[in-house]
Amino acid sequence: MKFQAILAPLAATLFHEASANTFRQRQVDNLTSRIEAETTIALQGVLNNFGPDGSEAPGASAEVLIASPSTENPNYYYTWTRDAALTLKMVVDEFLHGKGDLQPYIRSYVKAQAIVQTISNPSGALGSGRGLGEPKYYANLTRFNGDWGRPQRDGPALRATALITYSRYLLSTGIDSDGTEAGNIWPIIQNDLNYVAQYWNQTGFDLWEEVDGSSFFTTAAQYRALNEGAALGKQLQQEVSAYESQAPNVFCFLQTFWNGNYAVANINVKQSGFSRSGIDANTVLTSIAMFDPGASCDDTLFQPCSSRALANLKQYIDAFRTIYTINQGVSRSGTGVATGRYAEDVYFGGNPWYLTTLAVAEQLYDAIQQWSTVNTITIDDKSLAFWQSVYPSAQTGSHTKGGYSDFTKLTDAVLAFADGFVETALKYTPENGALSEQYSRENGTALSAHHLTWSYASFVTMRAARLAVTSDYGQVPSWGSPSNPKVPTTCTPGSVKGTYKPAVAAGAPSDAPSCTYLITFNLNATTSYGENMYLFGNSSDLGGWRVSDALAGSAADYSDARHLWTFTVELPAGAELEYKFLKKEPSGEVLYEAENRSLAVPDCGDESPGEQTMEEDWNGPVGSETE
Ligand code: NOJ
Ligand code: NOJ
Repeated sequence: MKFQAILAPLAATLFHEASANTFRQRQVDNLTSRIEAETTIALQGVLNNFGPDGSEAPGASAEVLIASPSTENPNYYYTWTRDAALTLKMVVDEFLHGKGDLQPYIRSYVKAQAIVQTISNPSGALGSGRGLGEPKYYANLTRFNGDWGRPQRDGPALRATALITYSRYLLSTGIDSDGTEAGNIWPIIQNDLNYVAQYWNQTGFDLWEEVDGSSFFTTAAQYRALNEGAALGKQLQQEVSAYESQAPNVFCFLQTFWNGNYAVANINVKQSGFSRSGIDANTVLTSIAMFDPGASCDDTLFQPCSSRALANLKQYIDAFRTIYTINQGVSRSGTGVATGRYAEDVYFGGNPWYLTTLAVAEQLYDAIQQWSTVNTITIDDKSLAFWQSVYPSAQTGSHTKGGYSDFTKLTDAVLAFADGFVETALKYTPENGALSEQYSRENGTALSAHHLTWSYASFVTMRAARLAVTSDYGQVPSWGSPSNPKVPTTCTPGSVKGTYKPAVAAGAPSDAPSCTYLITFNLNATTSYGENMYLFGNSSDLGGWRVSDALAGSAADYSDARHLWTFTVELPAGAELEYKFLKKEPSGEVLYEAENRSLAVPDCGDESPGEQTMEEDWNGPVGSETE
């Protein structure tokens, strides 16, 4: 009797567990097949956005990857350096997984980026490197002169990472036996790495194009690029000392974003009145961007399985549990929910995004890969709350694979948790599988830019990370992250001035100017509140005499004593130009100067960029028109 009494509940438990397992298995299999179906759509969705033949990118130049076919509300018919680089990283990873038909797209991207690097723009030009920080270009590869959050310094780093991953593959397989293809790509990478080594310590706009300051995501992307760039450069017998000297400084700086509970997305913010918690998908995307399947659960490298990144992830997810209507009724912890950029977001009403919801899942799949490789899960005080939310009885301590440990139960719980985020994204994906940028916080319908390239790319990378856990699909290659990197005791804000050259062998125009002048115009002009000064002239750098493309002056140093408007323009050495100043009235009326001014930019000296300052007096108004 006694015997039965003990065994019966045990058997019941076992039976229950067995059936629960099969049920769970069925759930996993069902999700897998839905993911496969969506992946086909997502990959095609990316290819459709490549010009000029992609079905959604008519009119885009050859090789150009647009952010979205949406041309109004919002207009995303541009190519963004960040979106394109993150997407191409996905394309390279898929190519490495055996999708050989993707190689032409990678080669197209290489060519497009060689050209893009040479397009002078409101951030600057290639001569000083500053132009590399420009966030976006028209789909026909011309400069965009409108107001924007610029520069954005993640772009060059992310592009370098995409190209480095491909170059390493070329060199390792021997298909590029004489090294020509990798050798042609290197000058693009070199420009980008030089940019990072020179400008990493200057503020710029974050990946959401809103905050002027230092962004965790940007800093991490820069660190990774310098590291793997130095390794590749050495392999190609290139000079890499600038990358090696700056990487530890960037690494040190990266640690300063941690506030004890989570990584703060933006620090050193320049905008006054900025107040946000700092909990932001920026940081989850960072853990994915830093993921190295060969790394341990290192906090300083913010690896997906690190205690810091897990604690951070929990804070991030919980920030969205109660604010979105569609998350109400989803039980509080341990369940997937819809997540967005950050809780305070108001863009398009501040909704969940597909790519951020999928990023949660991807971080967790990445983490499971890492635990399986290191064979151990270590739960500490920092990560305990995360663990208890997915596995309520979790306690601090180490769980090694095999034996009686909870290792498998823990990873299974994380897998189920991660799957919940994919389920959420799929639940709010329209039946045709199209992925927009956002889905409504109220009812889950798709919102904002449709067919967003980055949304599609995020689905494909999530899927690859999941398959690396649930099948023998294989992992992305290691980027060679250092093991147990030492954080310097004091952080040094360094910079190494770089040189920048058009990557002609990769497709940059051979007549692209590589030598430039930074011309500062100090304009004396008395203005009253609401009046603004502009400059325009007869070259594309000066807005081609179009008022709408005129360059805006800065009144940052305007005072009662000195009525100073400044313009800094990077112009090709030797150019002969005509220009004039404009005053725009609050009413929209535009006042011109009568006479054209002329400017002969000096010939190229030893140093690019040269620098020159012009002192000018406003000599208007004469002509006038209303915009
Ligand atoms: C457009 C940017 O792309 C987006 O990220 C931002 O939120 C909005 N402008 C509002 O500033
Ligand atoms: C707005 C997003 O905030 C930004 O990250 C992205 O680069 C652009 N849209 C284009 O997709």
